[in-house]
Amino acid sequence: MKKKILVTGGTGYIGSHTAVELIAEGFDVVIIDNLYNSEAEVADGIKMISGVKPQLEVLDICDRSKLDVFFEKHHDIAAVIHFAAYKAVGESVRKPLEYYHNNLMSLINLLGAMKQFNINGLVFSSSCTVYGQPEVLPVNELTPWQPAQSPYGNTKQIGEEILMDTTRADENIKAIALRYFNPIGAHPSGLIGELPRGVPENLVPYITQTAYGLRDELKVFGNDFNTPDGYCVRDYLHVVDLAKAHVVAVKRLLEGKTKSSYEVFNLGTGTGVSVLEAIQSFERATGVKLKYKVTGRRPGDVEKIWADPSLANTELGWKTVSSLDESMLTAWNWEKNIRGKKS
Ligand code: UD1
Repeated sequence: MKKKILVTGGTGYIGSHTAVELIAEGFDVVIIDNLYNSEAEVADGIKMISGVKPQLEVLDICDRSKLDVFFEKHHDIAAVIHFAAYKAVGESVRKPLEYYHNNLMSLINLLGAMKQFNINGLVFSSSCTVYGQPEVLPVNELTPWQPAQSPYGNTKQIGEEILMDTTRADENIKAIALRYFNPIGAHPSGLIGELPRGVPENLVPYITQTAYGLRDELKVFGNDFNTPDGYCVRDYLHVVDLAKAHVVAVKRLLEGKTKSSYEVFNLGTGTGVSVLEAIQSFERATGVKLKYKVTGRRPGDVEKIWADPSLANTELGWKTVSSLDESMLTAWNWEKNIRGKKS
């Protein structure tokens, strides 16, 4: 019998890539998504790649009663991967209440329903944002948290605290928080990828939309940081590499291999890359020249952060394989593909 995995936010960017990898590994996937920032057709893209269309239930997990109805129907779920959340740093500064409500209510509801329906394994979409601006780089899982730089970051810190307390209080529930650095790129098939509604908040979709001619120019948020070239530094990893880590984490939960009831892993490449280097990588990989202009800093931005991924490397047996240039090329192919279809 195939094990059924619930993927919340499964039509979203990372969720859809994870659904593909789960299906490839023999899991049955059911998705909950409220389609706030994604399209139902993503399930067709997943089918084109994997041969299986995951079941999609359109609902908002901030609505506990609807979530309970869902679990009554799907009582055979073996584990949950929780992606559904708002995720834009800049937007969270402008709309803090929406971020606290959506990101925390959904997690609380999900954990409550999991307890009620006796589902014991959760993989949580966390972020390097929990570290704030760390004093020492790269960051490992023991690096102390600094104050969150944005409401978004704070929702991830509080989310992890909720998980720590819940797993401490209920010995049946096991959770793994995966702290992503900056996921970029798209599935090599070009059939799924990142598709933000409206103006992109993240760097790589802004780059690809600018290159495609949908935006006039990329605004680079500052080049006066305390970094080697003055630009912000991040750790960009390919979304397919990231998706595969979720499959490893789910198997770890299902096979009872966790070493404590709450585990955390950094998921990154281990290399810091500046915004300027990211632009240069895009240009090198695609042969397309990008129009950009340096403007002021963005509120809530961390100056520099990159991962020490050695715990994930050794304990999960996971590491990134795609290069930055490969990631940029897949992002570009996806942009061309989706715009071709939409025009
Ligand atoms: C943040 C989180 C990350 C999370 C992501 C979700 C931190 C340190 N990182 O990523 O963990 O997965 O949100 O959205 O909190 N930039 C520009 N121009 C643009 C857009 C971005 O210059 O138009 C720059 C930013 O200033 C930043 C870099 O590009 O230096 C990456 O930005 P972005 O893609 O938005 O991701 P983060 O904010 O780093």
